[in-house]
Amino acid sequence: MFLQILNNSLDAFDPSGNGQQKTVRIDASRHGGTVKVLISDNGQGFADPKRAFDPFFTTKSPRSGIGMGLSVCYAIVRDHGGEITAHNQHPHGAALVIELPLKAPSFAPETKDNVVTY
Ligand SMILES: Nc1ncnc2c1ncn2[C@@H]1O[C@H](COP(=O)(O)OP(=O)(O)O)[C@@H](O)[C@H]1O
Ligand SMILES: [Mg+2]
Repeated sequence: MFLQILNNSLDAFDPSGNGQQKTVRIDASRHGGTVKVLISDNGQGFADPKRAFDPFFTTKSPRSGIGMGLSVCYAIVRDHGGEITAHNQHPHGAALVIELPLKAPSFAPETKDNVVTY
């Protein structure tokens, strides 16, 4: 999940650079029983943050993306009982906020003797 998000940040940077420093910021904090991870960049920002998690939604050329990355991230976070949201920052840049419960929900797969059961 984090690789998908970080690769999206790399894709979002202006290739010409324009002399601007490319920055990805990762921040993690604990709030009671929840871990909050904020991943933000100073790239171009979301063209449409509301659609970012839609399956097959992409603004990239067919060679660079098929639009499944954030949709899979959404499913992973949901299956762990958490939430993921997409935002634009000012003056520009994208941010993803992931909130996960420290305690796994009861429907999460269990691992015993290296066997995963659902
Ligand atoms: N960090 C980001 N900055 C700007 N736009 C983003 C960022 N991450 C995702 N997006 C937008 O969300 C769309 C969907 O992302 P994703 O599901 O990972 O698919 P893909 O990377 O294959 O296009 C991207 O095509 C892009 O428009
Ligand atoms: Mg992607």
